[in-house]
Amino acid sequence: MRDVVKTFPAVRALDGVSLEVRRGEVHALLGENGAGKSTLMKTLAGMFVPDSGTIAIDGREVQPKTPLEAKALGVVLIHQELSLVEDLTVAENVFLGALPRRRLGFVDWDKLHRQTAGILQRLNCDFSSTSLVADLSIARKQMVEIARALTVDAKVVIFDEPTASLTDQEKLVLFDIIADLKAAGVGIVYISHRMEEIFRISDRITVLRDGTYRGTLETAGTNEAEVTRLMIGRTLDYSQNREAVAPGEIVLETRGLCCGDLFQDVSFTVRAGEVVGFSGLIGAGRSELAETLFGLRRPTAGTILMNGTSVLVGSPSDAIRHGISLVPESRKEQGLVLGMNCRDNITLPQIDKLRAGPFLSSAGELEIYETYQKRLSIRSPSWRQLVRNLSGGNQQKIVIGKWLAMKPRLLIVDEPTRGIDVGSKAEIHKLIRELAHGGYAIIVISSEMPEILHVSDRIVTMYHGRVMREFSAAEANESSLVQAISGIA
Ligand SMILES: Nc1ncnc2c1ncn2[C@@H]1O[C@H](COP(=O)(O)OP(=O)(O)OP(=O)(O)O)[C@@H](O)[C@H]1O
Ligand SMILES: [Mg+2]
Repeated sequence: MRDVVKTFPAVRALDGVSLEVRRGEVHALLGENGAGKSTLMKTLAGMFVPDSGTIAIDGREVQPKTPLEAKALGVVLIHQELSLVEDLTVAENVFLGALPRRRLGFVDWDKLHRQTAGILQRLNCDFSSTSLVADLSIARKQMVEIARALTVDAKVVIFDEPTASLTDQEKLVLFDIIADLKAAGVGIVYISHRMEEIFRISDRITVLRDGTYRGTLETAGTNEAEVTRLMIGRTLDYSQNREAVAPGEIVLETRGLCCGDLFQDVSFTVRAGEVVGFSGLIGAGRSELAETLFGLRRPTAGTILMNGTSVLVGSPSDAIRHGISLVPESRKEQGLVLGMNCRDNITLPQIDKLRAGPFLSSAGELEIYETYQKRLSIRSPSWRQLVRNLSGGNQQKIVIGKWLAMKPRLLIVDEPTRGIDVGSKAEIHKLIRELAHGGYAIIVISSEMPEILHVSDRIVTMYHGRVMREFSAAEANESSLVQAISGIA
């Protein structure tokens, strides 16, 4: 790709970017949220037509105008935002637009399911080709998205943040698949905000900043600090305000909380001014616990107390009334209205409060938006921009802003920095600490061990739906946590 320019109304997303991918190489594409990574790859995959610049495959200039044309040229994009059809089966999604047919045009269902089953097996998937996509977890949906790419005889496969919702186990399977593709001479573009992955699997790294090309480096000849500097134009400050605040009174307490076979007998407290981290493997029950506290699930036994009073949380509006907010794990499905603008997404839960007569008081709303836009450095040309048009990481910041704007007493964040670039990640960690300082009680759920260790005052570990052990920040380290979450007493 040479000198590619792509503009949107009010945004110059790509300003003369070049990228060269060789056969059998893993080429990492790095840059802050909104730097233009997904846009560059969407022009390669026929989803956007560039304003200028050229694309050549095997030395031949091409102009893919639709994803199908790109596919025919051997370019496959595995999307950052899942793009599956929820009410179709796994097999139908995997072969969408290219269902195997018998003569007379009837779909060959046997062949469809046989071929899909083969791919699922290669990916070590534990669900069947006949499952409905709507019934799958996000991680499994991600695997379906990857399965789709394996149906094509590809020259270039693009992974846009593929591991954001995968477990460590699934990640290893993905890395095996990437190694296979590489060995077969496929060129791979790999987008991720996780440096350890970049350094583990890539051969070269290209860095974008603000839609411009900042350079290409051999992975073996560089390091995280150098790459980060190229990405954000400064060195990262990891130090943080960590002086011990005496925790305040107990804000949340659960006693013997159960939810069917999802989790049992969960008892813990969170005090004002305290960040309590929840560590556990996928399926340990952490997200389900958060959903129960937020009224999305009904506890089957036990009590929830807010400020010492037992409360019934039958719905999210009950939870909000009691001062409980949840930044959910899957923002796209639970947190955002994509067709609405940035301001309205942030003020959505408070519309009743802000409503002045039959009209919304726009000034108040705008003020709220601007406060959180600045605090979270949300990159958007204006409050009017539709959330659909923001980059993945900036969409995520909108969800966080929305729940912060509620000024809850208890804030639960589930995987708060998934898909967030390293610079903003440090910002969000700082923000979580600041909020605790300001008297919020905070629960952080994260599958990233360093993140949990970094932000928490106390860490609760869960295994198979039960609380294993509690650690203070001082006594916890990666190996003690790994033992606890794997059920090793
Ligand atoms: N369809 C669109 N309409 C308007 N603006 C867009 C559209 N798609 C992307 N943009 C803008 O282009 C810029 C680059 O976005 P892009 O999605 O490529 O970022 P990214 O590097 O993939 O970021 P992230 O790491 O957050 O996924 C952003 O400012 C984004 O808001
Ligand atoms: Mg992106």
